[in-house]
Amino acid sequence: MKINFKKPTNEKEILFVSVDSKNKDEVVKENGVKTLYLKSDEEMNLRKLFLLVRKMIQMAKGVKAEKVSFDFNDFKFKNINLTDIELGEIIGTQLDFANYEFVEYKTPTKEGFPFVKEIYISGVNSEIEKAILKGNVIADEVNKTRTLSNMPGGDMTPEILSKKAKEAVKGLPVKVVVLGEKEMQKQNMQAILSVGRGSEEESKFIILEYFGGNKKEKPIVLVGKGVTFDTGGINLKPSNSLLGMNMDMSGGAAVIHTIALVAKMKLKKNVIGLIPSVENMASGKSYRPGDVIRSMSGKTIEVLNTDAEGRVILADALTYSQKYKPEIVIDIATLTGAACVSLGERASAIFTTDDDLSKKMEKIAEETGDYIWRLPLWEEYENEIKGSLGDWTNIQNKNSGYGGAIYAAVFLYQFIKGHKWAHLDIAPRMTAMQGENLASGALGTSVRLLYKFIEEYKA
Ligand code: BES
Ligand code: MN
Ligand code: ZN
Repeated sequence: MKINFKKPTNEKEILFVSVDSKNKDEVVKENGVKTLYLKSDEEMNLRKLFLLVRKMIQMAKGVKAEKVSFDFNDFKFKNINLTDIELGEIIGTQLDFANYEFVEYKTPTKEGFPFVKEIYISGVNSEIEKAILKGNVIADEVNKTRTLSNMPGGDMTPEILSKKAKEAVKGLPVKVVVLGEKEMQKQNMQAILSVGRGSEEESKFIILEYFGGNKKEKPIVLVGKGVTFDTGGINLKPSNSLLGMNMDMSGGAAVIHTIALVAKMKLKKNVIGLIPSVENMASGKSYRPGDVIRSMSGKTIEVLNTDAEGRVILADALTYSQKYKPEIVIDIATLTGAACVSLGERASAIFTTDDDLSKKMEKIAEETGDYIWRLPLWEEYENEIKGSLGDWTNIQNKNSGYGGAIYAAVFLYQFIKGHKWAHLDIAPRMTAMQGENLASGALGTSVRLLYKFIEEYKA
């Protein structure tokens, strides 16, 4: 959408917005001029502010208004402590975030799709304008993440994801290297190769390198799960669990577009993105339950369930990350249904042994709307993933199956111990919930969180 900071000319074409807690969320036409009387809460907070800005866009789309005009000051609330710059960035982000819909495969009607095309914002100065436009750029990358995730599995293979990674950073100072199966063999990345073996599609390992900081500065490494379709493999998922598994590369998509955003914003930081990408398919070539894989690290993985594939490919990616002598490693993955059992669909899970890091991330999560909640990563949990044939089993082997998100995290921990590291299980936030005033489908979670984290990071 185009954002204007001047008064609109043709009043008849515009949907004017007025915000007040006494309003009733209605569009009224007076003397040919349309106004949306948007209802704010008596008790506003940041979470409600996100929803409010998005509701404005949803309602505008609902009445097919292509041009919307509002006053910046209408979104200032006494309970919400934000600078004008912070508020500008938030509004700029939420506007475009709410205007998104995945229409790539839909035939438009004669009038086209009901997107808001232009926004007029009054009550701003040049600093606020800049912040709003920055928010817009952030939302743009979030929405591109959503589009990658939303792509049907047949049209999103490891090869296509690699191409999309290159496209995402085209013209930016980001180097993209894609390892194919041959190159991965040379690197002993048997964990990734094993999971991808059942598929006709070649597995890929996507590397994005952005050196915007001092050359001597250790990089921040982001690792994203890039399973382009997760059938479960030989431990085939039941029918009702297969739909949506085209989005199992959401972590990888978030990494791609976080790095694109970091480069666009010219951050003076060194950031690396690593995306192991495979299709987890059931076939005569698939890896089997009971297989023991020697991972790149040398540690062996005893496969008790081929559907716990994300952690297996991430094991090699976490090992590979250490080539960079990283300052910090963060992995992002739609890793477990168990994370959804723990938290519902309102927060991703964060795991780390670093209390300060966790607090920092939790704070930024709250500020950006990429909500997270911490779960334990205690040594005791290792007892249930000690293997009998191999070093570590890819699911818990001694209890009744509770705590799956934690066992996945504790498994990953084995491959990155000794490094500053956090794991985000974003399965709960893979798709938008009803009432979030967002299009259904992929949410593009973690891009805002990771971007802000990198922006604010001090070694
Ligand atoms: N990709 C899934 C996790 C998932 C489930 C993400 C639902 C988003 C929504 C993952 O690979 C998986 O299959 N996990 C299994 C692990 C189990 C076999 C131990 C799960 O959570 O059921
Ligand atoms: Mn799986
Ligand atoms: Zn998966």
